[in-house]
Amino acid sequence: MFTTENTSYIKEKGKVSFSAPSNIALVKYWGKHGVQLPQNASLSFTLSNCKTITTISYVRKEKKSNDFDFQFLFEGNPKPSFEPKINTFFERIYEYCPFLKDFSFVIDSQNTFPHSSGIASSASGMAAMAQCLVTIEKELGSELNEEQLIQKASFLARLGSGSACRSLEGPVTVWGAHENIGGSSDQYAVKVPFEIHEVFKNYQDTVLLVDKGEKQVSSTVGHNLMHGHPFAKQRFQQANDNLTELAEVMQSGDMDRFIHIVESEALTLHSMMMTSSPYFILMKPETLEVINHIWQFRRESNIPVCFTLDAGANVHVLYPESFKEDVLSFINNQLVRYCQNKQYICDVIGTGVQSL
Ligand code: PMV
Repeated sequence: MFTTENTSYIKEKGKVSFSAPSNIALVKYWGKHGVQLPQNASLSFTLSNCKTITTISYVRKEKKSNDFDFQFLFEGNPKPSFEPKINTFFERIYEYCPFLKDFSFVIDSQNTFPHSSGIASSASGMAAMAQCLVTIEKELGSELNEEQLIQKASFLARLGSGSACRSLEGPVTVWGAHENIGGSSDQYAVKVPFEIHEVFKNYQDTVLLVDKGEKQVSSTVGHNLMHGHPFAKQRFQQANDNLTELAEVMQSGDMDRFIHIVESEALTLHSMMMTSSPYFILMKPETLEVINHIWQFRRESNIPVCFTLDAGANVHVLYPESFKEDVLSFINNQLVRYCQNKQYICDVIGTGVQSL
C-alpha cells in the first residue's frame, strides 16, 4: 500500500526537523503477530512534553551503493552503538522507502526528558524519525497528500516500535482494527473519529519516576510471552471490549467508568506478565505504595485522579486540568518520597508531531 516507485528525484540534498511526543496507552497493546501487528486494538493519550527532536540531513550519493549510509548523533555527539538498531529499521522499511539507498544521511536526535528516566524513548524516537523520512520522500517528489503522509509515517513508525505508531497525531489515537472505530487499522494508528469530552481536554499526566533503571525484561520478550499464554484469548477480547466502552466514556465524560477501565487495564497488563511462563514482575514496592495512596486520596477527596502503568515500575498519574493544584500538592506531600531522587515529570495530552 505504501510502496512508492523509485522516480527521478527533484532534489539533491536537504534537511528536515520534527519533534514527536511519547504516548501513554489507556487500553494496552500486549501481544503481537506477523510483522509488528497487534493482537488487539489499543488506545492512547498522546503526550506533549516528553518528546524527541530529530533532524535528518540528506545528500544524494555520488554512486548508488547497496547499503545504507548514515551517521547517528545523539545530542550532537556520534553514537555508533545506536546504528545497528537504525540499520535494522532501514532494512525493514526499505521496500516502502527505496530512496534510502540513494542518499547519505546524518540523523541528529535529542530527548526532552532525562536520559535513563525509565521513560521509553522508542515511541517518540521512532515517530520523529518516521515523520522526517516521509517528509524527505515528499521533498524528493512523492505525491502523497497530507493524510497519506501522516498514515505512512505511522505505518513506518510501527515497523520500528509498535506503540510508536500512536505518537504521530493526538490527542487520542487508536492502533488496531476495531469495529467501533471507523478507519482503524492494524497497519497504522488513527485519531479517534469523535470529539472527546471537555473534561479530557488538557488532561494531565504526571509521571512518577519510581525506577529509572533499565527494564529487566524488554517489551519484545513480553509480547512474545503472550504466544501460548493461558489467558491470551480472553485478554485480547477484554481489551477490545474495554476499547468499545472507553470510546463511549471519552465522549460522555463519565469519570467513574473512565477510572475503572484505565486502572483495570494497567493491572491486567501486569497480571499478564505475572502469569506468563516464565513469569516476571516489573512493579516495585514503591509502585504499590503509590497506587494505594492514590486510592486513599481519591476516596477522601473525591477528586477523579487515577493511575496507569506501562511496561515498568513508573506510575502515570492522570487527572483533569481543573484539579492540577490539588493533585500536585498531593503528589508533593505524599508521593515524591517513592520517586527516585524525588523526580517526576509533568505532562499533558497533546497533538503529535510538529515541524521545527
Ligand atoms: O511498542 P512496544 O513494543 O514497546 O510495546 C509497548 C507496550 C506497552 O507500553 C506496555 C503498552 C502500550 O500499548 O503502549
